[in-house]
Formats: sequence, structure tokens, C-alpha cells
Amino acid sequence: MRNGVLAVTRDGAVAFMNEVAYRTFGLTPRRDDLGRPFAEVLRDQPDVVRILASAFEVSHLPNRAELRLKPLGKVIGYTLSLVVDEQGRTAGVALFFKDLTRVEQLEERERLRDRLAALGEMAAAIAHEVKNPLAGIEVMAGLLRRQVPDSPDAQSLLADIINEAKLANRIVHEVLEFVRPIRLQVERTSIAQVLHDAVVLAENKMDRGDVSMRVTIAKNVPPIQADPHQLCQLFTNLLINALEALDGKGAITIAATGGVQDDDRGAAGEEHATLPTVMIDIEDDGPGVAPEVKDKIFNPFFTTKPQGSGLGLAIVRKIVDAHDGRIDLKTAPGQGTRFRVTLPVAAGTEWFQ
Ligand SMILES: Nc1ncnc2c1ncn2[C@@H]1O[C@H](COP(=O)(O)OP(=O)(O)O)[C@@H](O)[C@H]1O
Ligand SMILES: [Mg+2]
Repeated sequence: MRNGVLAVTRDGAVAFMNEVAYRTFGLTPRRDDLGRPFAEVLRDQPDVVRILASAFEVSHLPNRAELRLKPLGKVIGYTLSLVVDEQGRTAGVALFFKDLTRVEQLEERERLRDRLAALGEMAAAIAHEVKNPLAGIEVMAGLLRRQVPDSPDAQSLLADIINEAKLANRIVHEVLEFVRPIRLQVERTSIAQVLHDAVVLAENKMDRGDVSMRVTIAKNVPPIQADPHQLCQLFTNLLINALEALDGKGAITIAATGGVQDDDRGAAGEEHATLPTVMIDIEDDGPGVAPEVKDKIFNPFFTTKPQGSGLGLAIVRKIVDAHDGRIDLKTAPGQGTRFRVTLPVAAGTEWFQ
């Protein structure tokens, strides 16, 4: 049973309360709760007391109504039903409910996504317009370089122009990547394959120098429901950051393990529900992230690099969110950096079945 259930008798005593109800209301079960007045047991939830008390008086009981539990900042969706004895007399009332807090958060995220989508469309349009002139500048500067083979000054200026145009082009490309709405193409995905592809891509984009890279995949890592291309991009971005932080010297370790995490999707069962997950650590022994910028590194356009776009981790976060996963950072100055990506094995959420 995933829903909260609470039943009270006509004379106002608690007749039944399940574990989900205790947990949602933030109460610790007491041996003598059954039989105690519900107004006393639920003292800290006056709104619940109010709807239970009114149940015997109103003619139409609420069905799938919503209630905000103010002190807890939670929202429940609930249905009230009268409990009738064999003689047809009202014996009590039962409250069935579901914690909708997470559902509400998802809706909030949805609204934010809509707003960002409008901004994103504009950014995408601008980025698109800028792409062609930039390519033009790069090509024409290249042509010009061939026309002045004997002037080292002009050669060096033109080389600068070409490099800057390339940089601007990369930023435009990342902006487009960042603002594009994510549509996941979910399929059965091998983490080992994704990580392998990400290593190859990162090595293509960056000179690895003397940096060693080791990948270990634990035996208990199952295939997961995910978008392999998006995941590949996610890990490529993390690897490129690690390579940039190491600057040609050091070690990167990539490790995947299977595990479980608490089910915080608002669909917790009677027993403590858990979700199968896969955990991927990308760790480098580089300089680490300074404490004062730790909170900012996922923000779009935040960068500490002279030529950085600051979009790498923003894109990483977007892809992790789209997969209902999470990303954690462990770092200290001089002690390296570890990004831990935790992804659910199965995609999708359910509520109120
Ligand atoms: N592995 C790492 N080690 C140290 N710092 C990192 C690491 N990964 C990210 N950072 C910090 O986070 C910032 C933001 O990263 P990112 O969003 O990829 O943008 P960019 O790489 O363009 O700077 C980087 O500028 C850097 O300061
Ligand atoms: Mg980056």
C-alpha cells in the first residue's frame, strides 16, 4: 500500500493509521495512539484535524481534494469516506491520501521549463544567426593568410582572428546545446558502452598529455533505461573538465557501481521503499574546486577559465535532471574533484494509481 490511510471513529478516536500516514505527518508512532482522540494525535496538523472533524457534518465528502500541510510544507491529495456499520450507521471516517509534494515540485519545474523554453528559443535564434558569419570570418581569414605568406605580423594576427572565431563558434555551439529542450530517446543503455564512447570523445577534443584514465565497471551494474547519446555528452563534459583541470598531468578514474537509494519520489511504500540505481564516479587528482565557487559551478556561464563557456556543467545538470538522477560534488583544494552521477535503473514516476 503506497497511500496514507487514517481512520477515526465517530466519537473522535484514532482507529487506524498506517506507516505512510505517520511518515507524511512527521509523527513518531506511539503504542497507545489507537483509541486516543485524533485531535490530540494530530495536534501539529490542524488542517487535517479540521477536515476530519467536518466529515460528519458535510453532505458531500471531498474526493481527490488537495490540502497543504503548512508546518511541513507538504501537499497531500486526499479522499474522505464514511465508514458504515452493518446497520447502516456511520461508524467513523477514513482518510486516504497521497503525498503530492514531489508531484507539485515536478509541476513547478515544468513551468520553469516553459519559461526557459521561450528564452531558449530566442537564444537559439541568435546563436543560429551568429554561426554563419562566424564561419565566414574563419574561412576568409584562412584565405587571407595564404595571400600574405611573407608577412609574419599579418600571419600571427590572422592566426589570432581564426582562433578567436573558433572559440566564439564553440561557445555558440554550447549555447545551442544548452538551450535546446531535451527530448530523451530512452532505450536500454549499457553504462560501459556510454563511458567508453565518452572517453573516446573527450580524447578527441582534448590533448590528454600524460594523464592516465582508468575505467572500472562493477559486475552489478545493470543496463539502464536512458538516452545513451545524452549520457555520453554528460560524461564527455565531465571528462573534458577533468582533463582541463589536470592540464596534462595526473590521473582520472571512472568507476560505475550498482546500488539502491531511498525512494523519494512520493511513492513510498509501507516498508522503506528503495529504487535500484547506478552510480558513476568521475574523479581526478587535480587542483579541486575552491570553496567560494563550489556553489556556482553548475550555473550557466560560470567559468574560471579564460576561454571557458561555463556551459559544460549546466548541460550536465540538465541531462541528469532529465533522467531523474542526481549529481554530487566532492572536492577540496589540492585534493582533487569527484563528480558522482546517480541514475535510476528504470525511468518514469508514478503516483495515485
Ligand atoms: N574537475 C574539475 N576540477 C576543478 N574544477 C572544475 C572541475 N570541473 C569543473 N570545474 C570548475 O567548474 C567551472 C565550470 O565548469 P563548466 O560548466 O564545464 O564550464 P567551463 O569548463 O567552460 O569553465 C570550471 O570553470 C571550473 O572552475
Ligand atoms: Mg567545461
